Amino acid sequence: MSTAIESNLKEKRVFKPTKEFSKAARIQSLAQYREMWEESIERPDKFWGREASELTWQTKWSKVLDWKEPYAQWFVGGKLNVSENCLDRHLLTARKNKAAIIWEGEPGEKRVLTYQQLHREVCRFANVLKRNKIKKGDRVLIYMPMIPEAAVAMLACARIGATHSVVFGGFSADSIRDRITDSKAVMVITTDGGYRRGSIVPLKKNVDDALRDDPQSIKKVIVFRRAGNDVHIEEGRDVWWHREMDYVNAVCPAEPLDSEHPLFILYTSGSTGKPKGILHTTGGYLLQAYATSKYVFDLRDEDVYWCTADIGWVTGHSYVVYGPLACGATSLMYEGAPNWPENDRFWRIIEEYAVTVFYTAPTAIRAFIRWGDQWIKKHDLSSLRLLGSVGEPISPDAWMWYHNVIGGGRCPIVDTWWQTETGAIMITTLPGAIPAKPGSAGLPFFGVDAVIVDDDGKEVGPNVGGKVVIRKPWPSMLRSIYGDKPRYKKTYWSEVKGAYFAGDGAHRDKDGYFLIAGRIDDVLNVAGHRLGTSEIEGALGSHPAVAEAAVVGRPDELKGQGVVAFVVLKGGIAVEPHLREELRQHVGQVIGPIAKPDDIRFAEGLPKTRSGKIMRRLLKEIAGGKAITGDTTTLEDLSIIAKLSSNSD
Ligand code: WTA
Repeated sequence: MSTAIESNLKEKRVFKPTKEFSKAARIQSLAQYREMWEESIERPDKFWGREASELTWQTKWSKVLDWKEPYAQWFVGGKLNVSENCLDRHLLTARKNKAAIIWEGEPGEKRVLTYQQLHREVCRFANVLKRNKIKKGDRVLIYMPMIPEAAVAMLACARIGATHSVVFGGFSADSIRDRITDSKAVMVITTDGGYRRGSIVPLKKNVDDALRDDPQSIKKVIVFRRAGNDVHIEEGRDVWWHREMDYVNAVCPAEPLDSEHPLFILYTSGSTGKPKGILHTTGGYLLQAYATSKYVFDLRDEDVYWCTADIGWVTGHSYVVYGPLACGATSLMYEGAPNWPENDRFWRIIEEYAVTVFYTAPTAIRAFIRWGDQWIKKHDLSSLRLLGSVGEPISPDAWMWYHNVIGGGRCPIVDTWWQTETGAIMITTLPGAIPAKPGSAGLPFFGVDAVIVDDDGKEVGPNVGGKVVIRKPWPSMLRSIYGDKPRYKKTYWSEVKGAYFAGDGAHRDKDGYFLIAGRIDDVLNVAGHRLGTSEIEGALGSHPAVAEAAVVGRPDELKGQGVVAFVVLKGGIAVEPHLREELRQHVGQVIGPIAKPDDIRFAEGLPKTRSGKIMRRLLKEIAGGKAITGDTTTLEDLSIIAKLSSNSD
């Protein structure tokens, strides 16, 4: 890594943390960061062993890391419980009566759960799980809105060793069904409904639809009453959360679990097939979620920390629930939309609760910019001290706006690059130590050996584009794809020899900073949500009118990427205008509203190579309105291109 960062500070657009910020931060200088990073890479046992000793272990590990590529075991022989680390240990300190979760519902209700209260709810609900025959190792699907009970459900699973799989509330019945089938979950925890922009999302109904006619593994459905909408209760299968809680007491010791015990499965899109169940385990995952919360957000007891992610995504797992609670921090949760009832809801919340650390996604930032600064100026945001960004590259302009308008020019911004698979933050600018460069995610976190390689797997020099890979195991890495070890090996550990392949393209500047360009596989990033082109193609293909479909992304000012579908209809079916909307709705039903194509273009054929492979590069160029470049000599039928290009909306 270059040592010339200081000398480049004269460059415009390099933002060094203020002296006051650095002085109060855990990591205070580049030199300190480098020294610790080097130790973490050269002596991972020492570095991570020291960090891990800040957690509570029921049995200490005998070995920090056992690595047989591509399988890692962290803290071999160690036993611990995630819920004990997030709750019980704080009850022995002054944090006992501190707010663990501050919650606001979309309609405006407010609740605060102290660590003691949250502990009590988790213990009781863990007893409800046991009462309903959930055992260590069972899979439990959670399909809930952003309410404290979602965190209670996750922590209660962790407490007894059940493996949770949270499904984002915006996914459809079909998506729930697929995840149940793959994970063989035995229980669903849901709510009657949840609020979104003033209306009620019928979550229980979606669960009913998912369970309708399948030989399901699901034995029980626990329903929390949130929105008061009418729901069907299936006798013998469905039970109410509040009734069940009446039968149990609040005594539930945390189960000692092996460090490699499966904590959760989270489904995410890949470049092929259906979403993959990313498997995370206990000790290593918790450690890195904890250590990144501590060092990257530099969390303090006085902080009111707000990560706006939904618990249905990995960011909600690591940075709404597990990381901040392991640190004993106060985590704010908001149920609804940022523009309900008006465009200033987030700023109202920051003002009201005096939020100090705010972590959101570039897609939200672009929406805020579009809505206009007047919504922000109405509120006092002076409590903020640190800002964060995650999920997509943030453009330098959006970074500057975030810095000036939200951060008042005084708050460092931590851009954080990571993935569902990495479990926790991997590349970032530690706020008191590393000067930020707008548009760049920064430098590797401790223990992360990230580099850029070319197609031959060789590390490239500064300013040369290539693939992001990680050459050493890290504690919160995925352990497998649930039920499919060969796919795990093939997807992540075969593309580049001896390294984890992240699927992103990037380059590093002369100071070693990573500039992430985005996915280089067939994964789209739409409004910060990961979607596989093959998944959307599959959804379109399941409509009776469709013979074949190809889906690509195109740049979108607001969402980062938009979805464009090229659709070939079955013989005899005429292109009719209503079909476009019908197909969009169909995708919404099969996957969820977030996957609906922005643009559907009907075609007589798709551009294919002579061997029958769809030429996506060409489709991307057409979708983005660009001229066709590069080699088309392998194309089977050149006339298709001309037709596709002229057939836009
Ligand atoms: C992208 C979200 C640029 C990247 C935590 C990655 C980013 C994918 C950043 C993972 C960032 C995430 N800058 N790109 N700071 N953070 N990405 O699994 O393409 O939903 O591969 O995890 O989001 O998305 P996922």
